Parts: sequence; structure tokens; C-alpha cells
Amino acid sequence: MQELIWQIKPDLIIETGIAHGGSLIFSASMLAQLDMCDAIEAGATFDPSVSSRKVLGIDIDIRAHNRAAIESHPMASRIQMIQGSSIAQGVIEQVHAIAANYSRVLVCLDSNHTHEHVLAELNAYAPLASKDSYCVVFDTLIEDMPAEMFPDRPWGPGNNPKTAVWEYLKSHPEFEIDKTIQNKLLITVAPDGYLRRLD
Ligand SMILES: C[S@@+](CC[C@H](N)C(=O)[O-])C[C@H]1O[C@@H](n2cnc3c(N)ncnc32)[C@H](O)[C@@H]1O
Repeated sequence: MQELIWQIKPDLIIETGIAHGGSLIFSASMLAQLDMCDAIEAGATFDPSVSSRKVLGIDIDIRAHNRAAIESHPMASRIQMIQGSSIAQGVIEQVHAIAANYSRVLVCLDSNHTHEHVLAELNAYAPLASKDSYCVVFDTLIEDMPAEMFPDRPWGPGNNPKTAVWEYLKSHPEFEIDKTIQNKLLITVAPDGYLRRLD
């Protein structure tokens, strides 16, 4: 993800699934480094509290203690959160309205891992990924794990983010799986999940 963020230099990262906020803080930190590089190139002073780059997180349940920790983090000025289901129409509309203010958008999907939910997220948010940017779909590896790994989950082999990616790509030639990333990583939670937008 660090290499992708450096390559794309997004001004907006959209993430479904916040949980404790780990990936939000990671993304915000990467954006802060991009801002710092911009400032150095421009010969300007870097003020870490000022940024036009943002991470937008969506979660159906942002727990009070997680929200408090994220909002008090030094990266908080770069983070915006929406509480609601990522596939609710009102949430999708809010995300599209916010994304309209940005030009280089990276999308990361890491919420409910069922086929149906991820396919709905792909339909809602993959179109927001800019040309040459990516829609990264996490936990596609569920397809490659034994079914017994997920006894108490609605997802498993045959019903997971990877099957949703395969379905989505049948009618979306503007995206392709970038296998170079998974081949380089050797171990990843997102095999077939790095979708590059071609046009
Ligand atoms: C795997 S965790 C996210 C982890 C986070 N991306 C990270 O790496 O730090 C999944 C999250 O998805 C959220 N979630 C589940 N169903 C959802 C839905 N329908 N819409 C949005 N978020 C959902 C859960 O509440 C949970 O916090």
C-alpha cells in the first residue's frame, strides 16, 4: 500500500471498514509524507496540520472509544469518517459528493467480506478510482483458505471478496488485476485484489 500511495500520490483515499482505525492512520500518515515532499519541492515550510489530502473512512459501527482515539490522533486533520453501511444509498451519495472535490482517488474496500456486499461496494465505489489509480479489495485470500477457517462468518470459499472481484471484472474492462503487486509480495491478504483502473 505504501508503494501504491507513493506511485499514485492520491489526494483522496476512500476506505470502507474502519474498525480501530489502523488503516486510516496508516493512509493519513502516507498522505502527510506526500504533503511534506510537496512542501520540500516547493521550497515551502511543511505544516503537518495543514493538508488538502484526505482519507475518508466509512464504517457501519464506529465505536465511541475508536472514534475518540482516531479524532485525538496527530493525523486526525487528514481523516473524515462517515458512520453507516457502505452500501446504503445515502452513504454512497455522501461519498460521491465528497469525492467530487478531489482529482486523484484511491479506493480500498475492507468491510463486510461477503460476495454480495463487496460486489455492491465495487459497483458503488470502484468508479471513483481515478485513471491509473487502484481499487484495492482486501481479504480476497478467503477464497484460498479452508472453509473451517470461517465457522462463524457469513463468508468463506465461494462467497468472498475474490469471487466479487471476478464477477465485477466480467463487465468492467476498465479495470485489470495488477498481478505484479501480489507476485512481488509473495504473501498478501489481497491476491487478485489490486485492481488498476486503465481508463
Ligand atoms: C476488517 S475491519 C476493517 C479494518 C481496517 N480497514 C483496518 O485495516 O484497520 C471491518 C470493518 O467493517 C465494518 N463493517 C461491517 N459491515 C459493514 C458495512 N455494511 N458497511 C460499512 N462497514 C462495515 C465493521 O464494523 C468493521 O469495523
